Amino acid sequence: MTTTPTAGTATTVAARATELSKIYGQGETRVVALDRVSVDFHQAEFTAIMGPSGSGKSTLMHCVAGLDTFSTGSVRIGDTELGSLKDKQLTKLRRDKIGFIFQAFNLLPTLTALENITLPMDIAGRKPDKEWLDRVIQMVGLSGRLSHRPSQLSGGQQQRVAVARALASKPEIIFGDEPTGNLDSRSGAEVLGFLRNSVRELGQTVVMVTHDPVAAAYADRVVFLADGRIVDEVYGPTADSVLDLMRNLPGSTRQTPELDAKGRTS
Ligand SMILES: Nc1ncnc2c1ncn2[C@@H]1O[C@H](COP(=O)(O)OP(=O)(O)O)[C@@H](O)[C@H]1O
Ligand SMILES: [Mg+2]
Repeated sequence: MTTTPTAGTATTVAARATELSKIYGQGETRVVALDRVSVDFHQAEFTAIMGPSGSGKSTLMHCVAGLDTFSTGSVRIGDTELGSLKDKQLTKLRRDKIGFIFQAFNLLPTLTALENITLPMDIAGRKPDKEWLDRVIQMVGLSGRLSHRPSQLSGGQQQRVAVARALASKPEIIFGDEPTGNLDSRSGAEVLGFLRNSVRELGQTVVMVTHDPVAAAYADRVVFLADGRIVDEVYGPTADSVLDLMRNLPGSTRQTPELDAKGRTS
């Protein structure tokens, strides 16, 4: 095993990908989804991953979160190298150290909101820290709805349950893949506000894939992918600065057409 690069920074890195590559298929169907990506996600920081469709955002998130295997390179969560783990150990690490929020809320319809929130911990046989759980539930504004089932909740409320579920075990890092993709803008803003607060007030670490510049503006930092590579990065993003950067990404299919002298598009 190699040692961690710099002892001084080791404690602040919640997750790190080093020269991470992921190749799907072979021959004619070979796709390089990730091409030697190196990136750190720092503790108590909210990072958004952006880029055009097909640029490798989901693949990066899934590989770093231990949901998918990678071709070459390495990934670590905290001080644990994922490549060194057997399947069972990886499952345990995901369960104990990582929180997930997906576009589909993925709640169990037969369980109440509270039961859904504590389900991962129940499966792991861990007792929730009551004080922490109360704080999380209060933060996402679900105190009055804990005995409701998902069908009795709006989409925004269901995703709040999913946020609380991700936070409940005080994970080392939370990953979200388009967590507001299925929500109207108001509910989306609420969920993003909770993620923001979980970082600011609770010291959580959040990594979120999004294609929405407004969502990315809630983050501390935005990392831009294009064609499986990190091509840019910005701290303190605004929706406008993100939009500008996205327009200029190599390989972007969303480039704004250039205007000629007469204001016509080329
Ligand atoms: N299971 C898969 N098999 C083959 N190719 C895949 C698979 N998943 C993703 N890809 C390809 O990898 C690239 C990156 O995909 P993805 O990470 O889903 O991009 P994004 O999330 O940015 O839209 C794309 O070219 C996509 O078609
Ligand atoms: Mg995706």
